[in-house]
Amino acid sequence: MHGSPAWGCAARCVIALLLASMPQAFATTQQQTPTQQEAARQQQTGQPAEAQREITQPLNNAPFWRDVRAGDKNAYQTTQVRGVETNVLIQNEGEIWRRIRNGPITVFGGWLVVVAFLAIGLFYWWRGEIMLHEPRTGRVIVRFTSWERILHWTTAIAFVTLAVSGIFMLFGRYVILPLFGYTVFSTLTIIGKNLHNFIGPLFVVCTLLMILTFIRDNFIRRYDWTWMRRIGDFLKGRHVPAGKYNAGEKVWFWLGVTLLGIIVSATGLVLDFPNFGQGREAMQIANVIHAVAAVGFMALSLGHIYLGTIGLEGSYDAMRHGTVDETWAKEHHDYWYQDVMARRGRKAPGMPPKTAPASSMQEGWKL
Ligand code: HEM
Repeated sequence: MHGSPAWGCAARCVIALLLASMPQAFATTQQQTPTQQEAARQQQTGQPAEAQREITQPLNNAPFWRDVRAGDKNAYQTTQVRGVETNVLIQNEGEIWRRIRNGPITVFGGWLVVVAFLAIGLFYWWRGEIMLHEPRTGRVIVRFTSWERILHWTTAIAFVTLAVSGIFMLFGRYVILPLFGYTVFSTLTIIGKNLHNFIGPLFVVCTLLMILTFIRDNFIRRYDWTWMRRIGDFLKGRHVPAGKYNAGEKVWFWLGVTLLGIIVSATGLVLDFPNFGQGREAMQIANVIHAVAAVGFMALSLGHIYLGTIGLEGSYDAMRHGTVDETWAKEHHDYWYQDVMARRGRKAPGMPPKTAPASSMQEGWKL
């Protein structure tokens, strides 16, 4: 019976039917696959998944935040508020900025200021004040005009206010908060931040005026290189020839007042006026540059403040009253002293007298 033609015909029909139905079956599998994938995806990300996750992993709303983080790419994320980046709720670069600011800038910056302070303290303990070698003559020379002194002290007060308030903002969380608690930390930082924001623009104006006022006598001369090479002698209190400003003061003028002053001013303005269309990234970069330059500026300023006050006898008087004793001028700024003498027609050590200009009394000889 198995070998009968009827069975053979039936078997062929079944095979033909099977072959005919195969593309159909294949197509059905093809159609089902995306639906299953979709279902699987929905199980992981859709609303039911959110609800399920609330039960199995309460507070794990990572997918929600991933969506928010996607920002503009997410068609459903929008806001009625118009402005720069208003559609971006979470800005990824912010995390990098936070780590840089709270990491290397705070740690290394903080230590730089502390080490500079300690080094100067140690130097003072070892060396004490650098005194004049000869007695004062009682004759004084005008070193700074009223304008120069008013400008200097306005800039100095603005600088110290910015530095102290900047320290509150950058390091307060690590120093003031653990020592004095939240109330003191928060009060000081709020006051500091507002002072900083308002005094910043004043400092910008002062910086520009300082550069214009003091640039004339700060150009580098050949003898400044000699002074640099002999800086050790200067610190030991030995005489090293210098013009109106010595090379150390010129470094402070060019590196501190001019370069760092312009950097903190420019970046400070970017931070102070966010209404000029700059986005968060620009402000983060500005903040990092501002903080690095500010920390360097503070460390460098300690040297200037030290030598202008307790480090060098008579130098504070120059900025306080505008005058210095002849002995001081001769011992610290002999080229300038000789120039002044030559302009007065008086003999300076090692220089022939020159004719005095008509304006000699105006320039401040008080004999
Ligand atoms: C002597 C110069 C200055 C020093 C030593 C200084 C120092 C600092 C420091 C340490 C910070 C904290 C950075 C941080 O917490 O991430 C800061 C922030 C800031 N500075 Fe200055 N700064 C100086 C000048 C300026 C100037 C000239 C301006 C404006 C024109 C300015 C505007 C700002 C602003 C807006 C902030 C951000 C404040 C905030 O977080 O709200 N700064 N500064």
